[in-house]
Amino acid sequence: MRFPVTRLRRLRRNENLRRMVRETFLTVEDLIYPMFVVPGSKIKEEVSSMPGVYRFSVDELVKEVMEVSSLSIPAIILFGIPESKDEAASGAYSEEGIIQKAVKAIKKEVPEIIVITDVCLCEYTSHGHCGVIKDGEVDNDITLELLAQTALSHAEAGADIVAPSDMMDGRVAAIRSALDESGFKNTPILSYAAKYASTFYGPFREAAESAPQFGDRRSYQMDPPNALEALREVALDIEEGADIVMVKPALSYLDIIRMVKDEFGYPTAAYNVSGEYSMVKAAAQKGWLDERKLVMEILTSIKRAGADLILTYHAKDVARWLKEN
Ligand code: PBG
Repeated sequence: MRFPVTRLRRLRRNENLRRMVRETFLTVEDLIYPMFVVPGSKIKEEVSSMPGVYRFSVDELVKEVMEVSSLSIPAIILFGIPESKDEAASGAYSEEGIIQKAVKAIKKEVPEIIVITDVCLCEYTSHGHCGVIKDGEVDNDITLELLAQTALSHAEAGADIVAPSDMMDGRVAAIRSALDESGFKNTPILSYAAKYASTFYGPFREAAESAPQFGDRRSYQMDPPNALEALREVALDIEEGADIVMVKPALSYLDIIRMVKDEFGYPTAAYNVSGEYSMVKAAAQKGWLDERKLVMEILTSIKRAGADLILTYHAKDVARWLKEN
């Protein structure tokens, strides 16, 4: 039926009508809050390129997690900055490592919150790459053993979900069998399945001190122009045992989120990454855009694209705004 019988504006005339036909709702259940933990005590330092995001020592982190939990955010994802780095990334899988300590402390004080740990080596290697270097290249298969060891040590410390973000081939299977062999058959894997070699990670690398010291990550993270390859990445991770699959970054990859959701119908996460956050903050600080409306529009669009879960540095603000509404 066409105009003038059909008038699509009829259902847009006021807020209650709009609410009644709204197709997508962002809820606090969708949110996962990323957090950075550093050695030491009484530390809460702001990341200069990410206003409102801090690096916490374990004691301060626990307090912050209490606040996150009181906002009804169901989950956090942890990134660790170790005391020292080496070629073998030993800080990643040490029982006394920064993540292992943080997880234990959080699970003791705030047991209900879902603690997800990022499983990667880049914060722990002296060269900043996500794997072990052999003959000038990131060696896939040697790296798998260390990733499996890292994931297992996180589970032993009490992590509820492990999230490999390295993009090595075969890591989900390696982690799944390491967990299963040690009695962690119920620990889910959230895999960064389609992770692109993106410029949007810039501010994160400042926060996590994880910029590669030579070269870049393009030999393991995906080439941004590729979409069909993302489906192959996700298919493999699901075959290897991933429970939740992630697309990263989110905003420039909404098409990938939609394809992954339609193709697999799996629980799908999207990472609204550091650079996406910093751009919003910068524009808001300049008074160029309304931060609250902008964030809600962005996160709702990620959900509309098919994401069930959104990792976002805006999570605390959003949780507060949702409560106010
Ligand atoms: C570790 C990792 C990165 C991010 C999450 N896990 C950085 C990278 O791959 O260089 C980026 C998150 C963000 O930008 O917010 N490999």
